[in-house]
Amino acid sequence: MAPDASPQPGDPVPTVGILGGTGRQGRGLAYRLAVAGRTVLLGSRREEHARDRAARLMAMPRVTGTIRGTSNAHAACAALVIAALPYPAHADTLGALRDQLAGATLIDCTNPIRRTAAGIGLISVPAGSAAEEAAAVLPGTLVAAALHHVSSASLINPANATLTGTVPVYSDHPDAVEAACTLIRHLGGLQPYRAGPLRDARDAESRAPALITAALAPGHRQARTDPPRDRTS
Ligand SMILES: NC(=O)c1ccc[n+]([C@@H]2O[C@H](COP(=O)([O-])OP(=O)(O)OC[C@H]3O[C@@H](n4cnc5c(N)ncnc54)[C@H](OP(=O)(O)O)[C@@H]3O)[C@@H](O)[C@H]2O)c1
Repeated sequence: MAPDASPQPGDPVPTVGILGGTGRQGRGLAYRLAVAGRTVLLGSRREEHARDRAARLMAMPRVTGTIRGTSNAHAACAALVIAALPYPAHADTLGALRDQLAGATLIDCTNPIRRTAAGIGLISVPAGSAAEEAAAVLPGTLVAAALHHVSSASLINPANATLTGTVPVYSDHPDAVEAACTLIRHLGGLQPYRAGPLRDARDAESRAPALITAALAPGHRQARTDPPRDRTS
């Protein structure tokens, strides 16, 4: 039986659905949210795979919330949904979930990048950014972009009791900005800031290749964050 996507009694804040939740970023975010006591629907194309991933996360230290493995379609029924998808799967996956995501807030952390023999490169997005593409594909959804540079390795490492750094949030919708900021505060030490309209997510996405390349350099093991740059308040 599919788990209930609606808020559960005792949930401090709404359930969070994660599309592509079985991946590195999805699992890292789910772990931190569960440490904060939140309920997470870990979405996947394969429910059995998601249930296995969720069970492993639930066995990790300091988890007080709940992580349930499910389909992407069911995770998309939550009021607050994170897109943690590889860019090549991004638009098609979101488009197929348009009905489920109608009325929801979507936080998109997708970087339009690809690995090549020469390193990590940026994919040119006709809409300007993956975030703007999400907004175009999902006209009935409040889209915010954030978490592009928060590394999954830092999120999933239980030895990192507290994360540090600031996280820009981009959106054209004040309610989506607030929802993203609250979620980021629940990740355990990260501070959100209002970085501008959704089109400014182009800045964050375009910096991903260089930041990831630096993060993969020998000896670098810290969370990727950005300097404060609050343009909307
Ligand atoms: N990793 C990081 O540290 C990090 C940091 C910041 C931002 N991001 C961004 O977050 C996004 C996800 O990154 P990731 O490293 O977590 O990626 P990933 O592990 O490669 O993939 C995430 C999940 O996407 C699903 N997926 C893969 N191919 C798909 C397809 N063709 N169609 C539908 N679903 C597919 C898979 O889930 P199922 O097989 O279970 O469906 C997979 O577990 C990327 O856009 C990345 O730029 C990543």
